[in-house]
Amino acid sequence: MRVLELFSGIGGWRYALGLLGTVAAAYDISPAANAAYQLNHGSAPLAREIARVRPEVFKALGADTWLLSPPCQPFCRMGNREGLADPRCRAFLHLMDVLLEAPPERLVLENVQGFLGSPAHDLLSARLRQLGLSQLTLQLCPTSFGIPNLRPRVFILASHRPLAAQAAPGIAPVALERFLDPVEDPALYLDPAVLARHGPGLDLATPESRRSACFIGGYGQRLVGSGSFLKTPRGIRRFSPAEIARLMGLPEAFRFPPDMGLEQRYRLLGNSLSLPVARWALLRLLEKTG
Ligand SMILES: C[S@@+](CC[C@H](N)C(=O)[O-])C[C@H]1O[C@@H](n2cnc3c(N)ncnc32)[C@H](O)[C@@H]1O
Repeated sequence: MRVLELFSGIGGWRYALGLLGTVAAAYDISPAANAAYQLNHGSAPLAREIARVRPEVFKALGADTWLLSPPCQPFCRMGNREGLADPRCRAFLHLMDVLLEAPPERLVLENVQGFLGSPAHDLLSARLRQLGLSQLTLQLCPTSFGIPNLRPRVFILASHRPLAAQAAPGIAPVALERFLDPVEDPALYLDPAVLARHGPGLDLATPESRRSACFIGGYGQRLVGSGSFLKTPRGIRRFSPAEIARLMGLPEAFRFPPDMGLEQRYRLLGNSLSLPVARWALLRLLEKTG
């Protein structure tokens, strides 16, 4: 596969792709995401507003596969749910036009579950039908892949080849302790005053738990509804970025630029993908049917 990685973030799709293909070009407008991407993948994404990239520019890259994770806020439970009217959908709308002018042979779009049945989903499906591509919708969560972390996501697959539905592996999650840092950072512990105010609303897990809540981009700033907190004999603390990275399946060698602040690290992780899940979805594209 020769891939166009759109809304590339820290390069979750590139990790999931591995040796299945090469990235012809990655696009992301965030300097922080692009710095992390470059540090880990050795090449910088194109820092362009996707809505402004002309179709012939995409066409010239000669990619046969699109892997894309457009911003999910317009479809999020906690977002404004404005859908296509949200300015953050401009790039997506532009890509729906590019699709007709420079169609790939296959694509995978990842998003939150709220994307399903939205006008954006309807538009994508209509375009894919127009192009004669077969479609497959997968609803997947790392908890079916042995990982103790909720991150339900929808993957829309499209290909010139027929696509066959397949159930997720259904591996029971292991305990969280496997994903924890060998030496914990005391600075991650919450202040007693903060605990007194927000404690009852927190989603708590212990090292023995076989689940944790989905970590969102705002985990570094918000407490309630942003992810789980770990209860240990010492108190209650945030999960470290390295622990969240492990839960998402990022390689141990994954690094952030040393000068990047904690909140930014959480933001980039919260925007990214569960790699084993994304990889599994990607493999469905290549599977022989019938
Ligand atoms: C949901 S995240 C995708 C994260 C990515 N899959 C990863 O593994 O980290 C969406 C990304 O799209 C980027 N983005 C949002 N709007 C954009 C636009 N109009 N043009 C280019 N990039 C955009 C954001 O900076 C963010 O990194």
